[in-house]
Amino acid sequence: MTDVADEKAQKTTVTITVDGNEFEAEPGRMLIDACEDAGVYIPRFCYHPRMRPVGMCRMCIVDVDTGRGAALQPSCMLKVADGMVVDTESDRTKKAQDGVLEFLLVNHPLDCPVCDKGGECPLQDQTMSHGPGESRFVEEKRHFEKPIPISGLVDLDRERCILCDRCTRFAKEVVGDPLIHFIDRGNQTQVNTFPDEPFSSYFSGNTVQICPVGALTASSYRFKARPWDLDEVPGTFPNPMGDRVTIQASRNRVLRYLGVDSDAVNWSWLTDRDRFSFTAIHSEQRLTEPLVRSAEGDLVAASWSTALTTATDAIRAALDTGGPTSVGVIGGARLSTEDQYAWARLAKGVIGTDNVDAQLADGLPVDLVLGAPRATIADACEPGGTTLLLSADPKEELGTLFIRLRHAATEDRATLVELTPTATGLSDVAAHSLRVRPGDLAEVARRLVGAGGTGDLGPTGDDAIASARAALGDGPVTLVVGRASLAESPAVIADAVRVLLDGLDGSRVLPVMRRGNVFGALDTGLVPGHLPGRTTLAAAGDWYREAWGQVPAEVGLDTTGMLRAAAAGDLDVLVLLGADPLVDHPDRELVRSALAGVGTVIALDLFATTTVDRHADIVFPTAGFAEIDGTHTNLEGRLSPLGRKVTPPGTARSDWMIAAELAHRLGGDLGLDSVDAVWDEIEALSPLHAGATRSIVAESADGVVVPIADANRDGRPPMVTGLAPVDPVAAVRADAYALRLVVDRPLYDAGTTVSHAPALAALTVPARARLNPADRERLGVSGDAEVTVSTGRGSIRIATVADHRVPPGSIAIAFNCPGADAGELIDVDAPFAEARVQTR
Ligand code: SF4
Ligand code: SF4
Ligand code: FES
Repeated sequence: MTDVADEKAQKTTVTITVDGNEFEAEPGRMLIDACEDAGVYIPRFCYHPRMRPVGMCRMCIVDVDTGRGAALQPSCMLKVADGMVVDTESDRTKKAQDGVLEFLLVNHPLDCPVCDKGGECPLQDQTMSHGPGESRFVEEKRHFEKPIPISGLVDLDRERCILCDRCTRFAKEVVGDPLIHFIDRGNQTQVNTFPDEPFSSYFSGNTVQICPVGALTASSYRFKARPWDLDEVPGTFPNPMGDRVTIQASRNRVLRYLGVDSDAVNWSWLTDRDRFSFTAIHSEQRLTEPLVRSAEGDLVAASWSTALTTATDAIRAALDTGGPTSVGVIGGARLSTEDQYAWARLAKGVIGTDNVDAQLADGLPVDLVLGAPRATIADACEPGGTTLLLSADPKEELGTLFIRLRHAATEDRATLVELTPTATGLSDVAAHSLRVRPGDLAEVARRLVGAGGTGDLGPTGDDAIASARAALGDGPVTLVVGRASLAESPAVIADAVRVLLDGLDGSRVLPVMRRGNVFGALDTGLVPGHLPGRTTLAAAGDWYREAWGQVPAEVGLDTTGMLRAAAAGDLDVLVLLGADPLVDHPDRELVRSALAGVGTVIALDLFATTTVDRHADIVFPTAGFAEIDGTHTNLEGRLSPLGRKVTPPGTARSDWMIAAELAHRLGGDLGLDSVDAVWDEIEALSPLHAGATRSIVAESADGVVVPIADANRDGRPPMVTGLAPVDPVAAVRADAYALRLVVDRPLYDAGTTVSHAPALAALTVPARARLNPADRERLGVSGDAEVTVSTGRGSIRIATVADHRVPPGSIAIAFNCPGADAGELIDVDAPFAEARVQTR
């Protein structure tokens, strides 16, 4: 081989010439992107790097010579090739771009002064930079009624639409909700929804963000501000994905979140629930001052000093009479990672109680989350990889993970296998979608990996298991693990995961949970038996005792244990860190008796939730997202900055400040006077966070996943590895005529944020008993007839609906939704629940 041929054979890039300069480009890259990488921006409307190119607008036309002579070609449809010569400034290119713009403007209204897109509009900008300068068009333009609401969140102004196909492609390709289309022909072509089929996608706000003109606008943002009025900071949305966002505000009011294209996380997408949740920040119902319950039983305004003294006195009295274990702390998933650390230190290092739990019996076993080999989102979405979904429907719980998994299955040859109690938003793209009744998951897992497993598995047929088994092979796979039903014990899931990790070599777990920063809470020790850094009391007691002064001697109670202790009169003080157990804990009966039996309830919250309103004795108003600095931890263990843009209402404070104040009054000064100081202490002490300095976290575009492999953690305690042994859960069927109960959580439940966000509150779904049509027929239920659903725990009256996604033999009910309370049916001690349905 000659030297030149040899060099060519070894080359991993292609050489292209752009406007006379040579550049190296990645093979397979679109020319429009390669030119941008080289610093040459080609104008575009329809091209979006996260969607398939369609060549719809022709704005990106440039002169390209691939060796057969120069010709005008759309650069978004062309992959780079070695030796390609591109001229983005030729007269022909300019004439073509000029012509495209002139055509686009033929029917475009002169709306700029009243258009929400004005000031950030690619059509405006590119008309200025590449357009004809003046119009030759004097005829009457096309007119449509404007704007028309196409959903509760998005308005459409068809006159402004340039038919770029971005919104339609997004709806169909990216999220699988083909609810917005091109209709009519020729000059009358318009984008619209079909009558009676609103654009009721969970992701509709993304089309507003990607629409290159002001055709799609968010009703919550219309006429609120101009781009030049807005200040912005980058941030991380406090959901378990840690979606990267830009927070935009004007005059101390948040007006918009925009998704940021983080390659590792959300690719710029957001769910509507998250995107429009900013409307709750400035709710009139926000708590603005401390409250203390009066002798008459009313919550009345108090000074911070009075509220802090009252809370301190209650904790001190509990310590004097019942000792540290008479104090419990529930919640903390709403907090930043720094807030969580400060509260872990207050509870464990100052008060001395290990009765601390950020999960409300709605999550996963702690050792599974902390000890299983952790996967990243990229692992779960690896091109050509295999992913096994054992969780709730990601479309309902973690929308941007749903989008990433869907893309992997539809575009990147990933094999998705589902083991879920009902069909999910991913079932239509899964290679194998198996229905597994709550309680049967571990048995199905055993059969999947050839580790035994007997008995009747209801809808999970042997053939389906055999073909799923063939798809999984011997591993490795990524297990996406969560709580598919609140009426199923997490011990069943832990059992199944252990079986799968043993049987599928090299597999990893991506845990999915619903609550904001719950992974930060687990990593900072806001769970019993653990201390900050995925380490245990047993392993790290001395390390933290030295740093903090003391740590609890005994492993404490989880949330359910604390509620039981409270019900038995053994808990004198219960602190609620943004927790609303009356609504959030699955076992309604247990929570009621606990709150009736507890001594003093201290709540830190944004709103007077149901529990705060009825049971709190002292309430501290806290600052929330966009109002605080700090760090978020996502489901991968990725740390990224939250972003602060506005001031909290009234005298609301950060949760870490309240922890520091209480610690000081209890005689155990934390010595922490800023969020930065809290982070520095976390990084200095925690084995997990070693090396994740503030500057590294803040400066990394996609955040930092901990543990950092090569960080120096000499002398620090070991982190948890492996899963604790689990006793196989016996799936004993008590009632052959009953239906297996699935209690799941829809995107729009009656949670605190949705209920207080004016843009979202109307989208809350009512509770319905979802039954397979075959079961409805067998039971004699039609229409939305009400039935009585009973378990060994309780019964509810509830309207019904037919749902093919629920297999025969199961009944599904959404949790925390108006109309009926599924919490009345759940016994947290039972491995699963069987429900009888009576029509009267
Ligand atoms: Fe002006 Fe752009 Fe709005 Fe059209 S979409 S009216 S060009 S701001
Ligand atoms: Fe493109 Fe916007 Fe028209 Fe949709 S509404 S086709 S995104 S211009
Ligand atoms: Fe290339 Fe539209 S951006 S055709």
